[in-house]
Amino acid sequence: MTDAASAPVKVNPNAPSAETVIDVEHYTDRLFSFSITRPPAFRFRSGEFVMIGLPAAEGQKKPVMRAYSIASPSWDDKLDFFSIKVADGPLTSRLQKIKPGDQVLLGKKSVGTLVLDALTPGKRLYMFSTGTGIAPFASLMRDPETYERYDKVILTHTCRQRAELSYGLRLTESLRDDPLVGEMIGDKLAHITSLTREEYPLKGRITTLIESGRLFEELGVPALDPATDRVMICGSMDMIKDTKALVETFGLVEGSNSNPGDFVVEKSFVG
Ligand code: A2P
Repeated sequence: MTDAASAPVKVNPNAPSAETVIDVEHYTDRLFSFSITRPPAFRFRSGEFVMIGLPAAEGQKKPVMRAYSIASPSWDDKLDFFSIKVADGPLTSRLQKIKPGDQVLLGKKSVGTLVLDALTPGKRLYMFSTGTGIAPFASLMRDPETYERYDKVILTHTCRQRAELSYGLRLTESLRDDPLVGEMIGDKLAHITSLTREEYPLKGRITTLIESGRLFEELGVPALDPATDRVMICGSMDMIKDTKALVETFGLVEGSNSNPGDFVVEKSFVG
């Protein structure tokens, strides 16, 4: 049989799959989160990112795909994402309008360096995040292995305004009742929030709080030390650059999947 109707259909094994939006939540005019169905064969390590997109709009040749950190834990049967909204962003201008039941494209493979395996063993794990940079940590915070590997897990989240902290605050609150990690957490997890553009008990960029020592005072621990502390950094390009440079002044050395070290960085830039 060689007629066109029965010719084998060529399937691209790397083509994204179309997933269904389960729910969407808007926090501010700059931030929203959404969850989609997870294909049974889709595997990832907590902290990794994947390509997310929308089918090509009228007049576009290709779908627009961008890297998104997966915010849900690797055991969950749905996938969560936390996103900024950019009015003229090629993807988020359209993505911010999705509703339950809509289709979103999901890349086949997840990758990333904000994974536990890219760090050498230590006592304390710091997760420094700004804005949507909290997303990979939302995944790692719900992974039992994070608490198995470290005595203390410190999540810092710095945003411009109070409403931007709600996603993370709600998440850490819900962890206390989490069937998987709830009991493991005990007093292991510290969640430090700070704001830069509104009054708040703790004010200032994470870089300022580290430099001034205020962060360590809040926690009641000594300053960063490569002998005990491991660090993950996720935020804007500038935040990552500045925080990485600062962490290096304490003697911490950058790691990767193939060569684990004292700290790892990632960017969460989605337009
Ligand atoms: P600031 O308000 O002083 O710019 P954004 O939404 O622009 O990504 O910012 C999120 C948070 O990250 C804000 O609190 C912002 O502070 C902070 N931030 C921006 N740039 C840096 C940087 N280079 N180093 C540390 N924090 C930063």
